[in-house]
Amino acid sequence: METLIRQLRQRVRVPLIDVDSWFDSQFPSLESQQKVLDQICLVSESNPYYAQRVVKTIIEKLERHMDADSVILDGYYEKLFEVMRASPSVPTDTDVLGYTLQADSEDPDKDKVVLIKESPDLISGMGTTGLRTWEASLFLSQWLLRDFRSSGSLTRKSFEGKTILELGCGTGFVGICLYKYFRDQMKGLIFTDGDTQLIDRISANLLLNDISIDSGDLKVCKLWWGEDDLPPIKIDTIVAADVTYDASVIPDLAGILAEAMSQDNGEYGRVDTAYIAATVRNPSTIEAWEEYLDNGQHDRIWDWQIIDSTENGKYLERNRWDCIWYPVGVAQIKIYEIRRVIDNLD
Ligand SMILES: C[S@@+](CC[C@H](N)C(=O)[O-])C[C@H]1O[C@@H](n2cnc3c(N)ncnc32)[C@H](O)[C@@H]1O
Repeated sequence: METLIRQLRQRVRVPLIDVDSWFDSQFPSLESQQKVLDQICLVSESNPYYAQRVVKTIIEKLERHMDADSVILDGYYEKLFEVMRASPSVPTDTDVLGYTLQADSEDPDKDKVVLIKESPDLISGMGTTGLRTWEASLFLSQWLLRDFRSSGSLTRKSFEGKTILELGCGTGFVGICLYKYFRDQMKGLIFTDGDTQLIDRISANLLLNDISIDSGDLKVCKLWWGEDDLPPIKIDTIVAADVTYDASVIPDLAGILAEAMSQDNGEYGRVDTAYIAATVRNPSTIEAWEEYLDNGQHDRIWDWQIIDSTENGKYLERNRWDCIWYPVGVAQIKIYEIRRVIDNLD
């Protein structure tokens, strides 16, 4: 039941939701049916069509497995009646998805969840690709939080007292995850994107996660690479996901990284490390990106390496801590660590 609730929260495609394991050994108890129904009621507030498809699937399954002693909660039929006329969503529709970052083994209500208002089926719209959360964001966040959750505390240490800036943050998923986990350790967090429409939407996602935009350690600002200056703040670490999606954006992305690591940002110093997650949709785009990384290494600005990747489907299924689902057939994702070369200016 816990898995099913978490999948509904993340709007996993209906054919892929794990209704079978809910029926594993016996007909679901009324208590368990009620918990799943409560989640469906939440879903129907922002996505009635998804709720309709789920409730149909569940009723069908319950009816198929019931015997003389089984009872199906009336609430399922009432909900079906309510959402019966919901029409299929269109890509521009928004929904509120919940990504389970830390699963409580028994009670999904106690999970640590990041809520994001987004258009999950929209690849590109209103001139931007940032209206949905991309898989590279999920993978990068899982990677950044992994050591902390397994109590190795390596990642935590590396964020201690640091100010982190996210480039091309889109829905703000990576930054929100970091803030939820490291707010007590980090010094500050800056969400940036080149698109002002997205900047306006970040505050809504912060609020959904009970994060106040007025927190002194948070900043949201427009940063269009190649056009806007880095904010006049000491930044230690840069994070970014799926910002290498097209060859045309790579020169400016590499440019801002080089600027951040090689120029003195006034009295504010230089960025030490960047973690960039890239989805390999088109190998030639990734080759172009790595060529820029090689150039920066050749110029002694940074050293770079791939520190993790989703090769062989690694991490793409739920692991010990989180329950995050990826679409079937998602392209490979690589995480690049770019470290500034320490020189005699330090
Ligand atoms: C594919 S989306 C990724 C969004 C988010 N990081 C994620 O993974 O869900 C790429 C993001 O980069 C931003 N972007 C693209 N080119 C940019 C530029 N030159 N300067 C700043 N942001 C840019 C877009 O607005 C968009 O939000």
